[in-house]
Amino acid sequence: MSTAELDAGLTADDVSAVQAFARRYQHKRAACIEALMAVQRRHRWISDQKLREVAALLDMTPDELDGVATFYNLLFRRPVGRHVIMVCDSVSCWLMGHDALLAALQQRLGVQRGQTTADDRFTLLPIVCLGHCDHAPAMLIDDDLHGDVEPEKLDAVLAAYR
Ligand code: FES
Repeated sequence: MSTAELDAGLTADDVSAVQAFARRYQHKRAACIEALMAVQRRHRWISDQKLREVAALLDMTPDELDGVATFYNLLFRRPVGRHVIMVCDSVSCWLMGHDALLAALQQRLGVQRGQTTADDRFTLLPIVCLGHCDHAPAMLIDDDLHGDVEPEKLDAVLAAYR
C-alpha cells in the first residue's frame, strides 16, 4: 500500500454516505459508528485523514471520533488484509481449545496475532467473547461467525476466503 493510499482522504461517495447517516439523527455525532463502518467497508480501515474528515462532517473533533473508533474492536485504525480473522480468547473458548486453534492459524498463515499475511489475504486478531460460547472455540471472519472450529477443520473454513 503506497503512502498516498495510506494518507488518502474520503471519496465523494464516502462523503455522501456519511452525510446520509448524519441526516438520520438530530445530532450528527449519533451517526459516528455507522459512518465509520461505511467508510471502512469501502477501504478496509480508517486512516487518520479519513477520520479527520468524517469528524468534520459530524461536527466532532478528531480526538472524540478516534475515541469511538479505538473503543470498538470491529473498527480498524491500521491497514488490514482482505479478510480479518478474529479469534475469541474469552473463557469458554479458552477452555475449549483456543490455544490449539490459534497455534494452527498462526502456523497455516505464517503470522502472529496482529499481523497480516504476505499476500494481504488475512489479518489475524484477538477478540473478546463473540456470544457463541456454546460452540467454542469460535472465530469471526469478516461478518461470518464460525463455531466448533477444530484445527483440522481450518483448511476447509479458510478455503472459502480468497
Ligand atoms: S467465550 Fe468465545 S464465544 Fe464466548
